[in-house]
Amino acid sequence: MCGIVGYVGAHNASDYLLDGLKRLEYRGYDSAGMAVLTPDGYRLARKTGRVSNLATAVQSAPMPGRVGISHTRWATHGGVTEANAHPHISSDGVFAIVHNGVIENYANMKNFLLQKGYTFSSQTDTEALVNLIAYHYAKEPENNGKNRFVESVRKALLHVQGTYGIAVLCKDHPGEIVAARKGSPLIIGLGDNENLIASDASALALKTSRVIYLKDGELALVSDRSHRVITTDDETVQTVVHQIEIGLEEYELGDFRHYMEKEIFEQPTALHNAMRGRFSDDSSTARFGGLNIDPHELRQIDRILLCACGTAWHACLVTEYLIEKYARIPVEVEYASEFRYRNSPLDKNTLVVVISQSGETIDTLAALREAKRKGFKVMAITNVVGSTIAREVDGGVYQHAGPEIGVASTKAFTSQVLIGAMIALYLGRLRDMSYSDGVAFVEALKMTPDLVSEVLNISDKIHAIAKNYAHYEDFLFLGRQNMFPIALEGALKLKEISYVHAEGYPAAEMKHGPIALVSEKCPSLFLVTDGEIFSKTLSNIQEVKARKGKVIVIASDCCEFPDGLVDDLIQIPSCHDAIQPVIASIPVQLLSYYIAVERGCDVDKPRNLAKSVTVE
Ligand code: G6P
Repeated sequence: MCGIVGYVGAHNASDYLLDGLKRLEYRGYDSAGMAVLTPDGYRLARKTGRVSNLATAVQSAPMPGRVGISHTRWATHGGVTEANAHPHISSDGVFAIVHNGVIENYANMKNFLLQKGYTFSSQTDTEALVNLIAYHYAKEPENNGKNRFVESVRKALLHVQGTYGIAVLCKDHPGEIVAARKGSPLIIGLGDNENLIASDASALALKTSRVIYLKDGELALVSDRSHRVITTDDETVQTVVHQIEIGLEEYELGDFRHYMEKEIFEQPTALHNAMRGRFSDDSSTARFGGLNIDPHELRQIDRILLCACGTAWHACLVTEYLIEKYARIPVEVEYASEFRYRNSPLDKNTLVVVISQSGETIDTLAALREAKRKGFKVMAITNVVGSTIAREVDGGVYQHAGPEIGVASTKAFTSQVLIGAMIALYLGRLRDMSYSDGVAFVEALKMTPDLVSEVLNISDKIHAIAKNYAHYEDFLFLGRQNMFPIALEGALKLKEISYVHAEGYPAAEMKHGPIALVSEKCPSLFLVTDGEIFSKTLSNIQEVKARKGKVIVIASDCCEFPDGLVDDLIQIPSCHDAIQPVIASIPVQLLSYYIAVERGCDVDKPRNLAKSVTVE
C-alpha cells in the first residue's frame, strides 16, 4: 500500500512519475503527489483523491525537471488531506521524501526534532523521517569523502523502528535519488541514461524490463547513468540485475468497464496457465518445478500450516479441505497476522505454506519469516514473480494468473484454489491416492477452464438477478464443507466493493446466531452441491424461507429443489468435488460485481482498501 515512483534521467520526470503512479494506484488512492527538483528548488504538487486529480493539476501547471519522486497514498498516520499527502519536504527545504510503510517511533523522533528547531506541517510519521535526514545532513557537513546525501539518509534510517520503502531527493544533489527499503517493496528500474525507482515492476512498464530488487536493509544511490547499493551498515552490496517480462496489454482494460470484470472473465485463461506443464506424463498426478523439496521429504510431513490474509486466507481454507480429504494430512489455517505473534507450537514435521497474490503482504511476509526463523521450510503460492515473498521462501508455485489490478481479488483467488487442489493431488498421490483416482482428479482439473467459461456464459442472467438484490443492505452467504470458504469469500467480495453488510457462515451453523438477521430485508445466498448433505442444506433453506427471507441458490445442475423454495436459482455444472469451489466462485464474484455496479460503486477502487497491504 502506497505506491512510489522516482525518475532521474534525460526526459521530463513528471510524465513518467504520473504514468507510474497510475499503474500503482491499486496500492492506495487517498491522495497523490509529486516533487520535481529544478534549479530553483522543489516544485511540489499534491492532491487528495485519485492520481487523475494530480494529473489535472500538473497539466494546468506543468512541472518541468529531470529528477523527481511521486506517491499515491493509502493513509495511515493523519487524515486524507493535502497537507498529509506525500511528498514531504524537510522544514529546512533541503530534502523531499515519499514513503510507504509506518515509522513506529515517529513520535519520539518528532519530539526530538521539535527541540532542535525543525517544524512540522502534517500529521504524518513520514515528516519526522525527512526532518531526521535533514538533521543528520546539517550535523555532519563533512563525511570523509563519502556522499553526504547518502550518509544522512543512512544514519537517519538507523534510528527508524518500523517499515519503509522511501525515495528521497536532496536539493544539493540534483541528479540523484536515494532509495531504501525495510519491509516495503522497492525496485530500481535500469534504463538508458535514465533510471527509475518503483514499488513494483508494473510502474516501469513503459521504460525498462531490467530491474534490481532492493532487499530489506539496503539503500541505493541512483543517478541517470549509475546506481550503487549499500546496506544501512554501510557495506557494499553486489547487485543482481533481473530481466522481467511485462506484457503491456495485460494492463489494458480493453472493452471491459472495470478491471474486476476483466479479471473475472480472464479466469479460464488464468486457470489454464496455473496448470500448464504441471501434470505428470501419465496424467495421474501434478508436478511442480519450484517446490525445492523432494518427494521423500514430503512424505515425512505430518502436518501443514497454511497462512495468508484476506481472500488468500479463504484460498487456504479450501486448500485445507482438499489436502485433508485427498492427502489425509492434517492442515491448520492461520491468519498470517495472528500467526506471527501467537507463537503457536509447531511439530517438527510441519510444512508451512503461505499464499499471497502480491507476494508483498507484510503480515504474510512476517509469518513466513517467523516460520523460517524457527527452522521450518516455507513454501509459497504467489502470483507476482520476483516479489519479496517469492524471493524469501524455500520453494513454491507461481500462479501465472497475470497482473491483477482490481482491488477485489478474483482470478488470483480461483487460481490459488486450483493450485491448492493440485497440491492436494500431488500429496495424495505420494500417499494413498490410487492411480485411477489420480487420473480422474487430473481430468477434472483439466476441465476447469471450460466449466468456468460455461458459468461466465450465463453472466447476463446473473446480472439480472443482481439488479433485483442491489438495494438490500444485509446479506447472508451460506455453504457447507468445501462451499463454506466460498460463502466467506462471497460475503467478503460483496462487502469490499458494494459496502453491503454481508456475513459468510456454515449453512448449518446459521441457526446458532445469524438466523436472527433473517427477514424480508436480509436475503440469503446458499451455495449447494449434491452429495450426502444436500438434504441437510435443503432444511437450512427451509428455515430461512420460514422466516420470510429471500433465497438465492447457486447449485450444481443435478440438484433438484421443491417448488417455491428458491427465489432465484443459478445453476453451475456438476463436477468433481475438488474443483467445485472454483466453479462456484464465479457466480459469487459476478453477483457481487453486478450489485456493486448497480449501486454505482467504484468497483476497482473501493473505499479505504488497497490491493497490496504493506503495513501491519
Ligand atoms: C488486501 C486485498 C485483498 C487480498 C489481501 C491479501 O486486503 O485487498 O484482496 O486478498 O490483501 O493480499 P495478498 O496479495 O497477500 O494475496
